[in-house]
Amino acid sequence: MQILKVSAPGKIILSGEHAVVYGYPGLYAATSLRMNVTLTKSSSVLNSSYSKFAYKKAQQLFKVKEKNNYSFEIKSKIPIGSGMGSSASLAVCMSALAQKIGKNDFNLEEINKVAYEIEKKQHGKPSGGDNTIVTFGGYLWYRKESEKLKVFSKITPIKALPKLFIINSGIPEESTGEMVSLVREKYNKNPDEIADIFSQIETCSKALLKNILGEEKNDLGEIITFNQRLLEQLGVVSLETKNLISLLEKNGASVKISGAGGRIKGSGILLIYHKNPEKLKNFVNQQKLDIIPVSLGKKGVKFEK
Ligand code: PMV
Repeated sequence: MQILKVSAPGKIILSGEHAVVYGYPGLYAATSLRMNVTLTKSSSVLNSSYSKFAYKKAQQLFKVKEKNNYSFEIKSKIPIGSGMGSSASLAVCMSALAQKIGKNDFNLEEINKVAYEIEKKQHGKPSGGDNTIVTFGGYLWYRKESEKLKVFSKITPIKALPKLFIINSGIPEESTGEMVSLVREKYNKNPDEIADIFSQIETCSKALLKNILGEEKNDLGEIITFNQRLLEQLGVVSLETKNLISLLEKNGASVKISGAGGRIKGSGILLIYHKNPEKLKNFVNQQKLDIIPVSLGKKGVKFEK
């Protein structure tokens, strides 16, 4: 028997990944690809151990006691482990379900806080940006000032963003937590050099923000390419992905990874901008690469009828 159905979007990071872990800002968008979680009393539905863990953790954090043994049916269009926030979506869905069942409430701030704690169990030291965009949706400017103070603003682009394409360079072999630790090691060895890369990433994030707010007419392609070079300097992009990006760049595209990246083989999704979208589509078809169709700025977590 179906009791409740909740859905949450996948996300992309337009600019700021990795730097956001260290208190620099990040620019995020919720996508049209969603995860649906249906809570039932049927025991025929198989639960993943992670979904069970996440729900139990959420119940504990909401301080609710519940004797029913629920099952969860998960259907998702969000590519797994590729930088589109599938784990944050699951954490947010489980948090919203536990709050609804245990407290009959739908409070986004609380859902977000609890989802962040679930994400911490999964990833170690996340910035909290992923769960925040998945909870609130739309476009967000996000900054973690300290563990207890995380600030964000909803952004309303003044005009439709130019079309951005997404392709998958392959599921990274490393987890987000591993990629974050890798950058941490580099930071500990060379704090000044890595902090300098982070502040240049912040420059990209601000330029992109001003572009979408219509405050500055800067070149979107240039910002994306510069951001990508900085991520390469951080060591989060594999040789295979760099080669693919260089091929796309020769065709006139501007490309960056979006998310934690990967340095062994795949580096997750790529955000692509091209002044001539038809040319890009033809090229991508020729190369037998798949474009993941998404639109941006979509709704955050919500209950479904
Ligand atoms: O790859 P994802 O979707 O898990 O994105 C992680 C973004 C990082 O900045 C690398 C980590 C974080 O916690 O913000």
